[in-house]
Amino acid sequence: MTISEHSGIATAQIHAGYEPQAPFRTVAVPLYQSAAYEFPDYESARRMFALKETGFTYSRTGNPTVAVLERRVAALEGGVAALATATGQSAVAVALLALVRGGQHLVASSRLYGGTVDLLTDTFADFGIEVTFADPDDVGAWAAAVRPETRAFFTETIGNPLGHLHDLPALAGLARGVGVPLVVDNTLATPVLCRPLELGADIVVHSATKFLGGHGTSLAGVVVDGGRFDFSAYPDKWPQLTRPKQRYGGDTLWERHGHGAYLALARSKYLHDLGPSLSPFNAAQILQGLETLDIRVARHAENTRDVVRFLAAHPAVAAVHHPSVPGHPQAQLAARDFPRGTGSVLSFDLAADPADVGAFIDRLTLFKLVANVGDTRSLVAHPAAMTHCRLSPQQRADAGIRDTTIRLSIGLESAADLIADLNQALAPQHSAVPDPSAHLQKASR
Ligand SMILES: Cc1ncc(COP(=O)(O)O)c(C=O)c1O
Repeated sequence: MTISEHSGIATAQIHAGYEPQAPFRTVAVPLYQSAAYEFPDYESARRMFALKETGFTYSRTGNPTVAVLERRVAALEGGVAALATATGQSAVAVALLALVRGGQHLVASSRLYGGTVDLLTDTFADFGIEVTFADPDDVGAWAAAVRPETRAFFTETIGNPLGHLHDLPALAGLARGVGVPLVVDNTLATPVLCRPLELGADIVVHSATKFLGGHGTSLAGVVVDGGRFDFSAYPDKWPQLTRPKQRYGGDTLWERHGHGAYLALARSKYLHDLGPSLSPFNAAQILQGLETLDIRVARHAENTRDVVRFLAAHPAVAAVHHPSVPGHPQAQLAARDFPRGTGSVLSFDLAADPADVGAFIDRLTLFKLVANVGDTRSLVAHPAAMTHCRLSPQQRADAGIRDTTIRLSIGLESAADLIADLNQALAPQHSAVPDPSAHLQKASR
């Protein structure tokens, strides 16, 4: 099943990619917890290993439960196919490694999740892959960063941790013009709030650990291919897709799979060789969570609206970073591309000395101090000391992260209880603020 309209998401999140099969016709997706599969005969095994015949050979490269998750997320994003991975981190890594190799180059947003920055600046540097970080609000800076060896643009839809929105149509237009795919991490938006492929992106990645699962029990990642980028138009740029390879019996992946070639490479080489495969159990957990995705995202949004309103009016808060804050510079972009809201991960700056951050966090009781987002529970983190601690001070400044910036992931509890918790934790801070009138202007920079 594929969906083409946003209104179909509620149906796709429950049904896409699975039809009950005889003899039992289980209405819930069965959990096929098996490492391997018995081949019907020797010839089938030979052809499947030669990738001449499709089918499951070994769960490192595919599993029937995992495959339902892949089809379901592909449908939710409006893509042609998907590849599930063990984590969001490996989804980002595999998605990019299939496009860019040592000696080549990426342009990436300067406002990314810290773990992705670690991957791009450290591990990719070890592989000889260079990355230029560019301000997502300055498309000219992206154009200036492009080199002959650039092989992809990478960005997030809604940046972690400041909720910064990315103008995907503008970045996609530039990417098309310079002949590289735009890869978008849609973790914080989910396909309920934004479908990047409809805004011009070519490939979407997710940490399904977050809102897609929603329960915080299981790590998972997904790469979705929009199937539109024509790698054959640039055969010299992507020889891994457009030239004969010994690994594929002298065939080219593009000739064999056409627009499915990109994911075929990601699965048959990177998932196969590096092994960041999703366990069937975790796939079943994420599928269970997905069934309520749109309802949860709507409730997250309601709670976020109330928390943002409370924080924006609080004298112990210097700035709230969320596009819903009145006067926010990205209000127009939010209205254009995010009509259902801009997500429930937000940050705010305490009007306090950085030394007071720890005491504020420790006073919170309902908000859990956790290195995660997108859970039913409300979570708090201190990006400068936690998720973004390995960035240089300059990288953090470029991303708008201060030492007093606190990240919240707003959960599904009663908004009044969340506000009460924040209120009691901010109270001592409030009395310590020397001149509350200096902090009345809360619109994010
Ligand atoms: C936007 C984003 N992308 C990717 C990841 C990595 O996902 P995982 O933790 O599932 O490896 C995270 C984790 O926080 C994230 O927030």
